[in-house]
Amino acid sequence: MTRDIASTSQGNGVHAHEEIFRRIRVLKKEMNALILAHYYTVPEIQQIADVVGDSLALARAAEKNDADVIVFAGVYFMAETAKILNPGKQVLMPDTYAGCPLADSCPVEEFRKFKKQYPGAVVITYINSTADIKALSDITCTSSNAEQIIRQIPEEKQIIFAPDKNLGGYISRKLGREMILWQGCCYVHDAFSEPIILNACREHPNAELIAHPECREEVLRHAAFTGSTKALLDYTSSSSREQFIVATEPGILYEMQRRSPLKTFIPAPKDPENPFSVCTQMKQNTLEKLYECMLSRKPEIVIDEALRLASLGSIRKMLQMSPG
Ligand code: 13P
Ligand code: SF4
Repeated sequence: MTRDIASTSQGNGVHAHEEIFRRIRVLKKEMNALILAHYYTVPEIQQIADVVGDSLALARAAEKNDADVIVFAGVYFMAETAKILNPGKQVLMPDTYAGCPLADSCPVEEFRKFKKQYPGAVVITYINSTADIKALSDITCTSSNAEQIIRQIPEEKQIIFAPDKNLGGYISRKLGREMILWQGCCYVHDAFSEPIILNACREHPNAELIAHPECREEVLRHAAFTGSTKALLDYTSSSSREQFIVATEPGILYEMQRRSPLKTFIPAPKDPENPFSVCTQMKQNTLEKLYECMLSRKPEIVIDEALRLASLGSIRKMLQMSPG
């Protein structure tokens, strides 16, 4: 069955998708499954998903649903978060090797030592982190609600923010609030640099630069708008501008263009030879792997119950502090 689909998909794109879409829909019904996909996945995954969203929307969708099985097309920490919230449900992932290098940049033992240096500090961690790190944290956040959550922490409290130094730095500057930052970053967003971005702005004088807060300060300072994946989408669909240079993962362009077919979206260049800064881990989610994982119900996310309970508190706290 696998070979059948793989070979057709090379020959005849649209029809091959129709056939695999049909098979996925049949399985979805049989399994009572919910397919969740991040905006950075490939368009055909976004087309078949029940919910396409940013990290926060997907965590919320994982929390509130009546499916028996959750199929998560994203990166590992996202599917793991869905499992932490749903111990009784089967959580499948098309490719469990699709990890997030940002999450991996914060190893648990080093973080434990780091945290010990600041007793009494509130630990806020980006959802892009492992369950071990969430277990050491007071509150989880995403790029959509980080600001809202940090505003609720009393002024006199010290804050440790991990693992993304660019997102932490952005919020720190915006709120005028010092935070102790773990020095991690996302290789996709950190790849944009000021001279190349300015060059793109000169080449497209009518386009507005918009950027994700995981980008460096040297890029964000030139952006007309900075926001999470969902905020960027909402901005482009409601803005009267017609051209945008988009400094984030280019997978988002599919949904931007779908919502605003008459506008022009230019992926921000990384460098002259290699223009797109792509999250290769997100692209590991292919239609074939999605279908296969549903058919075989593997790979499945499994988490130790003690770790699940230890990490659940910080995720629940996030959902309470930023109700949907
Ligand atoms: P958001 O989905 O919160 O915008 O985060 C972007 C990202 O890099 C996800 O891994
Ligand atoms: Fe991780 Fe960056 Fe990829 Fe998001 S875009 S999954 S933060 S590596």
